[in-house]
Amino acid sequence: MFWLVIAYLLGSVSFAVLISRVRHLPDPRKLGSGNPGASNMLRLGNRSLALATLAGDLGKGALAVALARYAELSSLQQGWVGLAAVGGHILPIFHRLQGGKGVATAAGVMLVLCWPAALIAAMLWLTTFYWQRIASLASLLAALSLPPALAWLAPSLLIPVTLMVLLILLRHRLNIGRLLAGVENRFRP
Ligand code: G3P
Repeated sequence: MFWLVIAYLLGSVSFAVLISRVRHLPDPRKLGSGNPGASNMLRLGNRSLALATLAGDLGKGALAVALARYAELSSLQQGWVGLAAVGGHILPIFHRLQGGKGVATAAGVMLVLCWPAALIAAMLWLTTFYWQRIASLASLLAALSLPPALAWLAPSLLIPVTLMVLLILLRHRLNIGRLLAGVENRFRP
């Protein structure tokens, strides 16, 4: 329970919001797609701040699971800790529960939980983004690759990671609607 709370609190730190505040920029939840995440920071025109957001959001997910591993929690328990970190990013206690979509944080979680699955998902993200220039489509396909990859590579993690993927899908419901309608935001090449 202690590590779940720590992971949730770590996940609740929104780097997009913090970095924007520190740099006296508008709240990313009010601009672009309204998502406080790296892709929206990029959309709002600042590549280096988008990279910093990605590093922070990914780092907090990785840190939460690394701490759980350091505390010698079992692999399954580390999976639950990762889920708590992603939950914190999506519903952050420090930002009135107005969080992001969990993708970068999940990437950090997966990097420590099972790096080969993270690598497969990252390759899928990059390939899809390069091909279509749509961040949400890349994220959805990358997230969907995780359960089958884990069924093969680390079956003990399947339940918490599948729940994490479901959370991410739920959070992308508006993106899915726009994708189906063919009107999703596309980054310029
Ligand atoms: O990682 C977030 C991405 O999947 C979608 O973000 O800003 O295009 O809704 P956005």
